[in-house]
Amino acid sequence: MSINKGTLTLARYFDSRFVLSRSVSTAHGTLKQIFPDKKLTSHADWHKFSVEQPEEFWGGVARSSLKWMVPFQKAMNCDMKKGQFEWFQNGKINASVNCIDRHVEVDPERIALIWEKDEPGTEEKITYRSLFQMTNQIANLLRRHNVKKGDVVALYMPVSPLAVASMLACSRIGAIHNVIFAGFSADAIATRVQDCNAVVLITADEGVRGGKTIPLKQTVDKALGRCPSVKNVFVMRRTGAEVPMATNHFYFQDLMEQEKSECAPESMQSEDSLFLLYTSGSTGKPKGLVHSTGGYLTYAGFTHKTAFNYQVGDIFGCVADIGWVTGHTYVVYGPLLNGGASVLFESTPTYPDPGRYWETVERLKISQFYGAPTAIRLLLRYEESFVNKYDRSSLQTLGSVGEPINVEAWEWFNDLVGEGRCDLVDTWWQSETGGICLTPRPSEEEAEILPGKPMRPMFGIEPTLFDEKGNVLTGKGDLNGSLCLKTPWPGMARTIFGDHERYVNTYFKPYPGYFFTGDGGHRDPKGYWQITGRMDDVINVTGHRLGTAEVEDVLDEHHDVAEAAVVGFPHPIKGEGVYAYVVLKEHVDTEREVMLGQLREMVKKGISGFAVPDHIQFCSGLPKTRSGKIMRRILRQVAANNQDNLGDISTLADPGVVDEIVKNHEELQ
Ligand code: WTA
Repeated sequence: MSINKGTLTLARYFDSRFVLSRSVSTAHGTLKQIFPDKKLTSHADWHKFSVEQPEEFWGGVARSSLKWMVPFQKAMNCDMKKGQFEWFQNGKINASVNCIDRHVEVDPERIALIWEKDEPGTEEKITYRSLFQMTNQIANLLRRHNVKKGDVVALYMPVSPLAVASMLACSRIGAIHNVIFAGFSADAIATRVQDCNAVVLITADEGVRGGKTIPLKQTVDKALGRCPSVKNVFVMRRTGAEVPMATNHFYFQDLMEQEKSECAPESMQSEDSLFLLYTSGSTGKPKGLVHSTGGYLTYAGFTHKTAFNYQVGDIFGCVADIGWVTGHTYVVYGPLLNGGASVLFESTPTYPDPGRYWETVERLKISQFYGAPTAIRLLLRYEESFVNKYDRSSLQTLGSVGEPINVEAWEWFNDLVGEGRCDLVDTWWQSETGGICLTPRPSEEEAEILPGKPMRPMFGIEPTLFDEKGNVLTGKGDLNGSLCLKTPWPGMARTIFGDHERYVNTYFKPYPGYFFTGDGGHRDPKGYWQITGRMDDVINVTGHRLGTAEVEDVLDEHHDVAEAAVVGFPHPIKGEGVYAYVVLKEHVDTEREVMLGQLREMVKKGISGFAVPDHIQFCSGLPKTRSGKIMRRILRQVAANNQDNLGDISTLADPGVVDEIVKNHEELQ
């Protein structure tokens, strides 16, 4: 059948029985359907339109791609100077209706989720009909337990259909979900739950990863004593292990079964909060970023469709955990908004062997594979046969996220895994941005993709670089500076839960009128973008964002520690490793090895395993300026083995400290 896109109505654009031909670039095809009167053809022209007329652009996207209960009147009312944003004013919408009900109406038996459980070959497929039932049952259950619109529900769950259904159930009744990564410690759960006052916590008996069980309920139990806001705990049975249950703890599936599988959706204002997600910043306390309903959904669906050339019928395989923003936008919301089939990956890249990803690709016929460079760097150390023995012909697009992808990893992913015939898209974005902001696609189909760069701005995104003096960098040469975004976009976080001032100060004060990303950026003479790394004290360990101050706070709690400073250093697999400089109090006679063990254990307990320092150096002092500020630049250089290149140390109060630190470092290696 030949398809004349020009005659398509908007209604058919989301009639999910209709599949666009693969020869048509979805991104531009989609835009032509939304804006039939615009005679634009190139990426540059569409992009120009999107940033010069964001109201028309995003209004068109939101109207055509989402089902509104009450249409919005005005697409945007934003003030970048004040950090105030309102998208799709007075529009009413429900996220779960958009993710599920629309697709159930046209094709209830279509697969929504493929739960790729830890053991290969044990996957479970969930149709839209059954996702609808699960979601509504959970929504009714939450309502029965007195969860109201605007309440926060915390989730500490393994990647699973019930976790996805729980997120959507919250949205169905207007509750705000707060997913806590199921690798975080009891202390980390407690701080987050206390901050957001969650009324319900949903967890599982145990998680399963890489053939091992993880005691999730036990960890939750250690936190609950410090979480007085939590009235009820629901426990999903994942392994069936016996776990202690208090009177307000209930087995999730047992109660769900007693609920009706229909639940009237709450009609939400576009700006009502959809979820909270805690993320690390440069000070100790993680911040609860708040995402809106209408704006976030618009951006999640649009970027998922366009950045990956996603088409109905494709199997979308994002292997991120739902505890991170990548899981929110590209495991749950993006794929489901587009009526897609989304893979929920419970396992690890090396279980049972380093061929797991590609064996899964073959078995599930994955079309888009989206993962993190840290896993790629790990896998490329193994024999190529772990890739070659599996059929990867279903793959169309490969994606990378979370940290810079080095050229070696990019080439291995592109040439070996993708056989050089897939688009490999490096995608740069943040928990704050809600979705992808820089990525090679969408662009003209044949446009070049260069290794290791996210290259082009997403529609509606206008990256800008500033120099140290706060001037915008212009010109056609190589430019390096602080990366800011100029035009508001609907997916941006609206506030930090309970601390709007911190939100404004962090993101909108440094460069008035712009959103400050915290990252350094580079633009090359061709206009392609590249990320040069964080400009603050946030580091990226195995693709997980970590504030060095969070680790310092934990180390400082040890009674023998006088002071600690933590920095990142380049690590061949993890991206960055954690390096701690610890100054002990005088007269401490605890044995070094014992002390090391205690400090490591404290970080594991206080945050999570991934935050445990790779190196701990004991030193008698830290390099400080005369005004008492720690010179982290020096600590970073030493940790990175650049001790011959420390720069100017003349402003230090006691330059002798540096010699000691260098000597200790060399002994540690
Ligand atoms: C880093 C993850 C280079 C960056 C989606 C950003 C990247 C932080 C890339 C956000 C990339 C993410 N290239 N760096 N493609 N993607 N980052 O909030 O420093 O967990 O600010 O969101 O990860 O991490 P977050």
